[in-house]
Amino acid sequence: MKYKIEQSLLSEAKVDVACILVWQGKTIAEALAALDGPFAKKQAKFVAHIAEIADEDSFKGKAGQFFNVLTYERIPSRRIIFSGLGVEDCNQANAVRKLAANLARRVGKGVTKSAAVFFPPARRRQKIASRKATKDTEQRNDASLAQAFIEGWHLGLYEFSKYKSQNNGDNKKTSSVATLSFAGLKLTQRELDAAAKLGAAIAESTNFARRMIAEPPAYMTPTRLAEEAKTVAKEFGLAIKILDMAQMEKLGMGSILGVARGAKEPAKFIVISYDAPRSRKKIAIVGKGITFDSGGLSLKPAQSMEHMKYDMSGAAVVIGAMRVVGEFRPAVSVIGIAAATENMPGGAALHPGDVLTAMNGKTIEVNNTDAEGRLVLADALTYAIKQGADELIDVATLTGAVVSALGRVAAGIMGSDQSLIDALMKSAEEAGEKLWQLPLYEEYRESLKSDIADLKNAGARGEAASASAGMFLQEFVAGKPWAHLDIAGPAWLDKERDECNKGGTAFGLRTLCRYLLSYRH
Ligand code: BES
Ligand code: MN
Ligand code: ZN
Repeated sequence: MKYKIEQSLLSEAKVDVACILVWQGKTIAEALAALDGPFAKKQAKFVAHIAEIADEDSFKGKAGQFFNVLTYERIPSRRIIFSGLGVEDCNQANAVRKLAANLARRVGKGVTKSAAVFFPPARRRQKIASRKATKDTEQRNDASLAQAFIEGWHLGLYEFSKYKSQNNGDNKKTSSVATLSFAGLKLTQRELDAAAKLGAAIAESTNFARRMIAEPPAYMTPTRLAEEAKTVAKEFGLAIKILDMAQMEKLGMGSILGVARGAKEPAKFIVISYDAPRSRKKIAIVGKGITFDSGGLSLKPAQSMEHMKYDMSGAAVVIGAMRVVGEFRPAVSVIGIAAATENMPGGAALHPGDVLTAMNGKTIEVNNTDAEGRLVLADALTYAIKQGADELIDVATLTGAVVSALGRVAAGIMGSDQSLIDALMKSAEEAGEKLWQLPLYEEYRESLKSDIADLKNAGARGEAASASAGMFLQEFVAGKPWAHLDIAGPAWLDKERDECNKGGTAFGLRTLCRYLLSYRH
């Protein structure tokens, strides 16, 4: 796909679709006059007609609104599509990303070969004498708008049709647009190319992670997940190590091995590393990779089990993020860990009541085999520390309680280090992913006390379950700066929402990439 700076005016551009982005409250006549004054004047009657019909259709530039116009050769482009951005006073890159995803679903497939995107002119400098405003916040950042658009475009085009039979009509609709041009952004071609490279890479890695999540659990086993990770490492020049169960045994990883006991499929401990030259810090990103969570002997009811193939979302996010790290090589070392196993109720499965010894020596009474995520993460965190990680970030579909608390809109973030949490929340804001912090009050520790072991794996039912899971993990971070993203809600959608498809969304990947790439050379 080619990305170009569009030099021509709306009346001169020759593309299949001219996309005009409109802020809420701006009329179509205003938008056209601002883009191409002479055209609006010369074609005043045509413009008035469009405006009238747009009004009848209640097009108001709201987010998600679209309005199509055939141009009948008044301009060289065949079609104009007005696209609502929503309110102007917002995170504009996030508004643009959402719009681009919805737009791509409309015009990105089928017959459209070329599209030009006309951004609204930047708002005139406001008089912000009293407000503290830096150059950065005053000025629109056109590179981040372009990046967000391209990111959203590719995210919107995601589909997973591998298991649809050939004759299904939907299958023929693949991405068709070969050239996207951008007008109204103050960018050189080089700056656009750089923004496009990053936006496309983050989106493609997200889509790659989404595909791994979408695969049926009988296919996307720990072994296959490891194969996918190997492919990524090879393609992007990263070191990779896959520990099998015998090697895990040797390292004393009793906690993850306990979970693996009930499964026929062997567990795999996947380690991808990127060593930055002269890095003073090593960040570990750790993903929960339960390729299917039946609950184990503490079996889930059928309804709760239906989508439990997405319990490896954290692992997919980590592998996907390492793909971006491999391509963009930030100035910080990163070790990506995906701890992969099934959670099954086989004959050798954990019994509720069993006691495990984790890699750090702590003993865990397993009072609920369905609280398996924290068991695999416990050893993964310890392993990361043994590998020299100075900072830990784990990503996991850890608790149903976080879905109750925040729905499918936001992930919960918890941790031991407020500045790390703040930095991740800032990256999330830029990436258009919502994180909401939950507290790790000391009082929650009480619920994890065991009568016979150092701790038990599940607290009291229905009481701050997300935070008590966080407290459990904290026992395994050895005082290192650590943050935990509980993505159980937004990692799965039953209905598409802007740049997120339905099904597995790979939520968290964009945040991790923004954060890791903030370490520049
Ligand atoms: N994978 C689940 C959490 C989950 C639930 C993810 C719903 C996505 C949607 C996790 O392994 C789990 O079963 N957690 C238990 C913990 C409980 C037993 C303490 C839960 O949340 O019910
Ligand atoms: Mn579970
Ligand atoms: Zn789980």
